[in-house]
Amino acid sequence: MPRPEKHVFVCSQSRPGGHPRGSCGQRGCREVVDEFTKQWQQRQCFTQVAVTPTGCLGPCNMGPSVLVYPEGIMYGNVTVADVSEIFEEHLLGGRPVERLIVPASVW
Ligand code: FES
Repeated sequence: MPRPEKHVFVCSQSRPGGHPRGSCGQRGCREVVDEFTKQWQQRQCFTQVAVTPTGCLGPCNMGPSVLVYPEGIMYGNVTVADVSEIFEEHLLGGRPVERLIVPASVW
């Protein structure tokens, strides 16, 4: 398997209601994970991009959280509507989506 140019980790962590940290699961991450997977398959970019649902990435109160390597760029409050832009601009175009990057104080 060739090493992908970009590896995107999409938080899929859920926690019980009332948990002090909350979770991306409470903020709609399931749909975001599904959209990343759907677009990855539609775009057939398997050698360029890897998509991995993952556990907690840290900034739960800014989720859904998405982390892209090799740059180590963290996106927050990602919605289904943002996924196309992340694919086209960052994962395939090499230009991070500035408006979705979490503050440096967070990551
Ligand atoms: S639950 Fe998603 S970042 Fe913590």
